Amino acid sequence: MGLADILSPSLVSHTLVTDYPVFTSVLLALGALSLGQFIAKFAGVVLQTFILPGKSLKKYGAGKGAWAVVTGASEGIGREYALQLAKKGFNVVVSARNKAALNALVNEIESVEVAGKKMQARALPMDFSTSDAAQWTGFQSALEGLDIGVLVNNVGRSHSFPADFVDAPEAEVDQIIAININSLLKVTRIVLPGMIERRRGLILSSGSFAGISVVSPMLAPYAASKQFLASFYAALGAEVAGKGVDVQTVNTHFVVSNMSKIRRSSALVPTPKQYVRAALAKVGLPCGALDTGRPYVSTPYWSHALLDWFIHVIGLKSVVTGVVHNMHRDIRRRALRKLEREAKQQ
Ligand SMILES: NC(=O)c1ccc[n+]([C@@H]2O[C@H](COP(=O)([O-])OP(=O)(O)OC[C@H]3O[C@@H](n4cnc5c(N)ncnc54)[C@H](OP(=O)(O)O)[C@@H]3O)[C@@H](O)[C@H]2O)c1
Repeated sequence: MGLADILSPSLVSHTLVTDYPVFTSVLLALGALSLGQFIAKFAGVVLQTFILPGKSLKKYGAGKGAWAVVTGASEGIGREYALQLAKKGFNVVVSARNKAALNALVNEIESVEVAGKKMQARALPMDFSTSDAAQWTGFQSALEGLDIGVLVNNVGRSHSFPADFVDAPEAEVDQIIAININSLLKVTRIVLPGMIERRRGLILSSGSFAGISVVSPMLAPYAASKQFLASFYAALGAEVAGKGVDVQTVNTHFVVSNMSKIRRSSALVPTPKQYVRAALAKVGLPCGALDTGRPYVSTPYWSHALLDWFIHVIGLKSVVTGVVHNMHRDIRRRALRKLEREAKQQ
C-alpha cells in the first residue's frame, strides 16, 4: 500500500470509523447539530423576511386619529414613509428644511382617504443640524398635544463622497454628528414621554449597513453615527419594552435616492417605495438581523436581509472590509475626477 493509499480520504474515514467509533459519533453529532442550527436559523430568516407579517400598525393608533412624525421627509425614504403611513391611517407631521417640498407633500397627504376619512398633515420646517435652543423649543411646541403613535427618525446625512477621516471636511463631519446623532436624541426625547404616558408608540430609525453590518473605511464618522443609532436604540428598546413602546433600527443597504446617488433600482437597490413597504410590513421582526447579536435591529427588505445575514454568519469580516474599502476608494476617485472636469468647464 503506497502513501497515497494510506492518506486517501476514504481510508482515513474508514480507519476513523472502525478504530474510533465513539470519537467519530461525537464528531458526526456535533456536525449534524451545527448544520441543524444553521438550517433552523436560515429558515427563521426566510420565514420572517418572506412570509410572516409584522405587528399591525393599528397597535400604534392607525385609523384612530393618531399622528406619525417623520423627519427628513421632504424627499427619498422619509417622503415615502410619510405617504405610506398616511395610507395606513395616520395623520402625519413632516419635517425637513425644504418648505416648498414639505407643503407639496402635505397637500398630497391631505388628499389621502382611509375608511372614508381624510388624513391630516402638517409641515414642520426644521434644520436638524441646529443646536439653537429656541428652534428646538419651537419644534417641541409644534408637536405638543398631538397623539403621536409613530416616530420615524429618518433624517440623516452622509459624506459628499468617501474620504479618509484626516481628509474629510471638518464642517461636514460636524453636520453628520449634529444631524445623525444630536437631533436623533433631541427628537426622541421630545416624543418618547408622550408615548410612554399613552403606553403606545413605535419608533423607527433609518440605520445603514455602514456601521451596522460592515466596517466602512472612508465613511468613518457616518458609519459610527449609524452604529451609535443602533446601540442607542438597542438600550432604549430594552428600557421601554414594558411600557407599550416598540423601537426598531431599520437596517438598510442601498436605496435609490439623492443620498445614495443611485438612480436606477435593482434587486439589491430598491426604490424608496419598495423599501418602506417592506419596513412597515415587518415591524417587530428582525428578518436579516435575526439572531445576529443586534437587538432591536431589523433588516426587512428581502435582498438586504439575505445579504446582511450571510455577512454575519459567514464571517470573513476583514475580507468584507477590504471589499468595502476598495469600493469607497473607487467612488472617491470617480468623484474627484468629476470635480476636476467641472472645474475645467468653468
Ligand atoms: N439611500 C440609501 O441608500 C441609504 C442607505 C442607508 C441608510 N440610509 C439612511 O436613510 C435616511 C434617509 O436617506 P435618503 O436616502 O432618503 O436621503 P435623501 O434622499 O438625501 O433625503 C434626506 C432627507 O433629509 C433631509 N435633511 C437633510 N439634511 C437636513 C437637515 N440639516 N435638516 C433637516 N432635514 C434635513 C432632506 O430634506 P431637506 O434637504 O429638505 O432638508 C431629505 O428630506 C438617512 O438617515 C440615511 O442615512 C439611506
